[in-house]
Amino acid sequence: MTVLLTLDRLGVEVEDGPTLVHGTSLVLRYGERLGIIGESGSGKSLTALAVLGLLPPPLRARGSATLTTPRGPVDTIAASQRRLDGVRGSVVGAVFQDPLASLDPLMRIGRQLAWPLRRHRGLRGDALRRAVLDALADVQLAAPERIARSFIHELSGGQRQRVALALALAAGPELLIADEPTTALDVTVQAGVLQLLQREIRERGMSLVFISHDLPVIAEVADRILVMRHGHQIELGSADQVLQSPAHPYTRALVTASRQLEAHLPPTTASGEGER
Ligand SMILES: Nc1ncnc2c1ncn2[C@@H]1O[C@H](COP(=O)(O)OP(=O)(O)O)[C@@H](O)[C@H]1O
Ligand SMILES: [Mg+2]
Repeated sequence: MTVLLTLDRLGVEVEDGPTLVHGTSLVLRYGERLGIIGESGSGKSLTALAVLGLLPPPLRARGSATLTTPRGPVDTIAASQRRLDGVRGSVVGAVFQDPLASLDPLMRIGRQLAWPLRRHRGLRGDALRRAVLDALADVQLAAPERIARSFIHELSGGQRQRVALALALAAGPELLIADEPTTALDVTVQAGVLQLLQREIRERGMSLVFISHDLPVIAEVADRILVMRHGHQIELGSADQVLQSPAHPYTRALVTASRQLEAHLPPTTASGEGER
């Protein structure tokens, strides 16, 4: 299988200050779904932001994050802003814990969605209008016309995250980076959004980097797992290996804790019907 993303000792530090992430190295192939698990503050989000070229100053990345693109490899750590703009959206899309992070509160949702469709897929006029409505229908939003005319604050949490997902997928990227995309949602709508995300990835044959502090969610989504702690890469392996025979004591503790918790919970009922 062809390589889509290579991280080589990708780290994050405060300029003239401490190191926050000490260096992650891995290879993600087309179609693979990588889960990143770790407790709060372990460096998961900073790693994702570094790959996306979105670290806020005074943070900066070390090492490299090389994406395969139609125009050749792009190291997002070293790339110019112009090059990054060409890669974000079209090669890699992202959804975050807070859907408002990627949405403009003052622009109608239809206009926001039209932007990547026009820019990366060259759509105009009626074809563009149809594509906007299709993108909203794809993420199972009922009444796409109404949603397209809405502002993001008029929608519920689950609807907002569906719109954020539609926006991330609009330009047809190869890779979706999803950083705790269901953590901020009501429990009743988490399962629906998670199922939708997985279905979209599967149907589009995309690759996924899925970040969560929740091991059962990672176990459901990922076929490979990276474990992070205190800014260090603790363990990396296939989901089976990491979950069945974890090599590191920290991973063993994580797995044991989540089994004990599961034993006290009823099986999850993944509905997705609760909120549209
Ligand atoms: N802008 C920043 N300046 C200084 N430290 C930061 C900044 N952003 C995050 N950190 C620190 O970096 C560490 C990793 O953060 P983060 O990647 O957000 O963790 P996670 O996503 O795993 O919860 C945390 O200890 C956090 O406090
Ligand atoms: Mg985080």
